[in-house]
Amino acid sequence: MNREDFPMLKEDIVYFDNGATTLKPKSVVHAMDKYYLEHTSNIHRGEYDASIITNQLYDGVRDIVRDFIHAKNSDEIVYTSGTTEGINMVVFGFMKKHLKKGDVVLTDRAEHASNVLPWLVLARKMGIVVKYVPLDDDYSLSVAKLEKEIDDKVKVISIAKVSNVVGDVRDTKRIGEICKSKNIYFVVDAAQAVSHVEVDVVDDNIDFLAFSAHKMAGPTGVGALYGKYELLCGMDPLKYGGGMNQEFSSDGDFEIKTPPLKFEAGTPAIAEVIGMGEAIKYVSKIGVDKIHEHEVSLKKYLVSELRKIPNIIMYNEKSDSGILAFNLEGVFAQDTAIFLNHFHIYVRAGNHCTKMLKEEMNIRNTCRISMYLYNNKSDVDRLIDALKQSENIFKVVI
Ligand code: ALA
Repeated sequence: MNREDFPMLKEDIVYFDNGATTLKPKSVVHAMDKYYLEHTSNIHRGEYDASIITNQLYDGVRDIVRDFIHAKNSDEIVYTSGTTEGINMVVFGFMKKHLKKGDVVLTDRAEHASNVLPWLVLARKMGIVVKYVPLDDDYSLSVAKLEKEIDDKVKVISIAKVSNVVGDVRDTKRIGEICKSKNIYFVVDAAQAVSHVEVDVVDDNIDFLAFSAHKMAGPTGVGALYGKYELLCGMDPLKYGGGMNQEFSSDGDFEIKTPPLKFEAGTPAIAEVIGMGEAIKYVSKIGVDKIHEHEVSLKKYLVSELRKIPNIIMYNEKSDSGILAFNLEGVFAQDTAIFLNHFHIYVRAGNHCTKMLKEEMNIRNTCRISMYLYNNKSDVDRLIDALKQSENIFKVVI
């Protein structure tokens, strides 16, 4: 699908590390180049032509993000540096103010560090309790098990829409309904979801949702946080400075702006925001449903071929995404990744920042294949051919 838009693919590589970051199409890079080469200027500060063009492009991306995640209002979209910053803003800007000692945050052991550590810090600082929903036998998160953990103390459910190792797509629609009926805040890490599965913040009654552009064909260092407008009004900024204040004076008085600008102090990543808008246009033109269908069908093919290789252990064959975690029996995941690199096949090996998952899987590290729109059957065939030669792994790796 659209491989010619990604110059890096000409280098005869198989890029299967899309969960870490995706390749960027030329249109995204060109839009960012254009800003730097033709209309460099700051935003919201100039009356001259270049600045007007930049303002229009920069502000326009809010509408593009709004439509992409089906939010009601562009003022509910805050530009961030990525998912990690978005979740930290929610935890320390909102939850710290609105939760109290003993309140429970429900999550699970397959979550990425960025959706665990901020909560653990809040637990240490103010005595909230972080509880983990037990995963199913296939390491996925089921609504039934989540419901069993809910009692009056649960004030927040914070989960990924798609897990970055197990690749299960969580039923945020049902979880959102539960949150609504029980008055629980619903926080969603959509880093591995946007541009792989449809995200609808209104339909799923999501209170806060964070994602990064670089995992969806966009640049690094930028992302967005969605928050229901009334919640954003009750959230404190973590950064203070230019662009977010209305007024301040030497007697100590100051007034800050309304959302989203109140969270965007300082000169932002302007080129990256423009690049994020371009990336969303790019994936929307193809269609998120089509991308999902493509990834799932490639994964099915991959799994069926891997089943024919005797020493392969797969951990999440059935999950409904393009993510597969596997190991070669008796081989360190990192050695497998080094071996595959010999064939110019790029995969990620390690714990993938989900350091608690080993408590459920009994395995510390895995190799991860994560697909995207430009992967194809020939990529899978090359991987299979390489793995079939894995009896030679230590000749290559050592
Ligand atoms: N969170 C990224 C991954 O899963 C880095 O690889």
